[in-house]
Amino acid sequence: DLPGDLAGRRVVISAGGTREAIDPVRFIGNRSSGLQGYALARTAAARGARVTLVSANVALPDPAGTQTVRASSAEELRKAMIEAADGADVVVMTAAVADFRPADYRDFKIKKSESAEPEPIRLVKNPDILAELVRRRGAGQVIVGFAAETDNVLEHGRAKLARKGCDMLVVNQVGADLAFGRPDNAAVVLTADAAPVEVPRGPKEALADVVWDLVAARLE
Ligand code: C5P
Repeated sequence: DLPGDLAGRRVVISAGGTREAIDPVRFIGNRSSGLQGYALARTAAARGARVTLVSANVALPDPAGTQTVRASSAEELRKAMIEAADGADVVVMTAAVADFRPADYRDFKIKKSESAEPEPIRLVKNPDILAELVRRRGAGQVIVGFAAETDNVLEHGRAKLARKGCDMLVVNQVGADLAFGRPDNAAVVLTADAAPVEVPRGPKEALADVVWDLVAARLE
């Protein structure tokens, strides 16, 4: 894990959380702060990688030495990731992608009516971007997914790793006072072909460096 072990490598990282518009002023969103993705971007750049960061609704300054691209909805994130992943050595999906989006976008702000019942918002499924990136994967490209689980972390993580088909899945336990918006994280890193690597609670940079250690070993 020497600084410089990612020299010449091109890595693409998604960070933050998507917003799915209901009308011009409202959206369905999530609590992802982008801190883990930004920590991955900073540490990869420090280790010599050329970094493209696809950032979804993150209130953090662009990390120095990385190319930062903005995306808001899952569809925008999908397009940006597919474009950036072409020819990349490593792709990491930390972004929290909304599973569903409103079926109909209203061009005008939905009004509240004093008498009528509120209208239900019908949802449709978003594409699974990580699974699509795996399907399009270039030769030798390493793909890393993240998963937030609240219970049976290992069991759910293993099933998800198999389902998504990525090389590595970083599973962290989330809850009211865990992970979201906090500077520290604890996780288990799963790969299909090796024992799980437990990362004790610590700064998100420390988890990022463990991920890059494992990625660098796979790239060799
Ligand atoms: O299935 P789940 O949402 O838990 O999977 C999490 C992983 O899949 C993350 O890496 C996330 O970025 C990615 N994902 C995605 N597209 C979705 C949902 C999740 O790429 N629609």
